[in-house]
Amino acid sequence: MQEKVEAQNILSMNSVEVLYDNVMLAIKGVSVQVPKGEMIALLGSNGAGKSTTLKAISGLLKAERGRISRGEITFQGTDITEALAQKRVEMGICHVIEGRRVFEHLTPDENLTAAAPRGMSRSTLNAEKDKIYAYFPRLAERKNSQAGYLSGGEQQMLAIGRALVTQPKLLMLDEPSLGLAPFLVEEIFGILQKINNDEGLSVLLVEQNALAALEIVSQGYLIENGRVVMHGTAEALKSNSDIQEFYLGGGETDFHNVKHYSRRKRWLS
Ligand SMILES: Nc1ncnc2c1ncn2[C@@H]1O[C@H](COP(=O)(O)OP(=O)(O)OP(=O)(O)O)[C@@H](O)[C@H]1O
Ligand SMILES: [Mg+2]
Repeated sequence: MQEKVEAQNILSMNSVEVLYDNVMLAIKGVSVQVPKGEMIALLGSNGAGKSTTLKAISGLLKAERGRISRGEITFQGTDITEALAQKRVEMGICHVIEGRRVFEHLTPDENLTAAAPRGMSRSTLNAEKDKIYAYFPRLAERKNSQAGYLSGGEQQMLAIGRALVTQPKLLMLDEPSLGLAPFLVEEIFGILQKINNDEGLSVLLVEQNALAALEIVSQGYLIENGRVVMHGTAEALKSNSDIQEFYLGGGETDFHNVKHYSRRKRWLS
């Protein structure tokens, strides 16, 4: 039974704690499962521990003097808790960090070339590029302009394209909607959904924009203060009154902070 569950989850994070600088406990026993081929959202407000969770999975904690102090992470059934970041990349874990980093002085096409794994043949690279341009027609139109002059949305598309060129098995995106106009968020999320549908790519999506994220994922986890306080299907989360009130922009605004505080306490109790 246990084996079957493992086989269905491409990623399994169990009771993971992360310490920064040996003192700051940023996440406090987080468990997150990503079933193969599904899109899962990690929701929560500023400082909740979302990015830390992604860094624990991709192995980027070390660079920030962080480490996993408890729990374990398995990817396709292999324990990766202690694996080097590069090893995790080779296994197919791709982490698009917050802030849409692209090489601004290169063109989008050159950016894609630069992101390709060493040893990828030219024909495979070209096929991957064609696929990415088909998903992101805006990128195709601007593929030979300087990336630094692309709009925020186009740069985010390019950041996702750079991830896709590595042919990941698990794509992790940290707040891809940040600072983008709603129509662009809708466009990019629609494309992500299409890629997930067409290719069965597993996606772990970190978002503060719960409204947009819950439209495209199958399940969501809500993180507050370093702990998962809620987990459910996208439908269940959308109809949850706490989520509606604090993350989907519904509900009254009177005494908002007071109510937020009391509810947060209730989640944690
Ligand atoms: N490198 C670091 N060193 C020390 N503390 C850190 C470090 N990075 C994050 N933290 C702390 O860990 C906690 C979780 O931060 P994290 O960046 O994971 O939150 P987040 O949910 O991604 O927030 P945001 O939505 O603002 O990006 C915060 O209290 C933060 O201050
Ligand atoms: Mg973050």
